[in-house]
Amino acid sequence: MILNSDISVPAGSAGPADPSDGRGMAARGLLRSRLSCQAFDPRATLSRAAIEGLIGAAVQAPSAFNLQNWRFVVAHSPNSRSRLKPAAYGQEKITDAAAVVIVVGIEPVSDAFSALMNRDEEDGRLPASERERLDRQIGRSYSDPCAGKAEAIRSASLAAMTLLLAAEADGIAACPMSGFDPAEVARAFALAAGETPVLLVALGRNADPAQVQKQRRPVSAVSSFA
Ligand SMILES: Cc1cc2nc3c(=O)[nH]c(=O)nc-3n(C[C@H](O)[C@H](O)[C@H](O)COP(=O)(O)O)c2cc1C
Repeated sequence: MILNSDISVPAGSAGPADPSDGRGMAARGLLRSRLSCQAFDPRATLSRAAIEGLIGAAVQAPSAFNLQNWRFVVAHSPNSRSRLKPAAYGQEKITDAAAVVIVVGIEPVSDAFSALMNRDEEDGRLPASERERLDRQIGRSYSDPCAGKAEAIRSASLAAMTLLLAAEADGIAACPMSGFDPAEVARAFALAAGETPVLLVALGRNADPAQVQKQRRPVSAVSSFA
């Protein structure tokens, strides 16, 4: 746990949030308890409202230029999950889970982003001059298709992590999965050009309530300060 005395801020700026307040404790608690469910209870079901609640939390994730270049395709029905399973190399979790969210990253070149900015401009949240500057900057940033694809993967990964933490907060077992053939998933769920299935997030009830968290390498082994 960090202390306020560990953080220094320039005089006159807003201070950091108190890490010992309810919010800080709750966030740290979620990080301490989250784990990837190893065995889902195949009898459990999850309502559409509960899944939409998780997606509502996932879209709070940050994204470059606030492009929100993600989409969530939910394999909810047993049929959809059976369709997904072969593309995920037959992993049982796909059909044992109550739902699997395909977190899709979108290369930031589509008209959808223009529409998003049009709305911001109409609402007065984005002045016209700023809009032009953003259009130019976004065009420059993603003129290389590899950069667009990398950004799609970054945004969708952050959204997936946010979804995992929201699931933990709601008492829903979850497991992120990259063990799938992206081309097969894209074909089976009719993803558009420029859309990449980045992660599957299986959701449901943990069949093993005694499952414990895995070890992590110590901070000293994974960090350096420059
Ligand atoms: C990018 C990524 C891909 C993963 N792919 C799979 C997968 O295909 N199948 C699976 O059962 N678990 C998968 N996992 C779960 C990891 O095995 C798990 O996160 C890791 O062992 C650490 O365990 P923990 O999440 O419980 O702390 C994946 C996790 C990540 C982050």
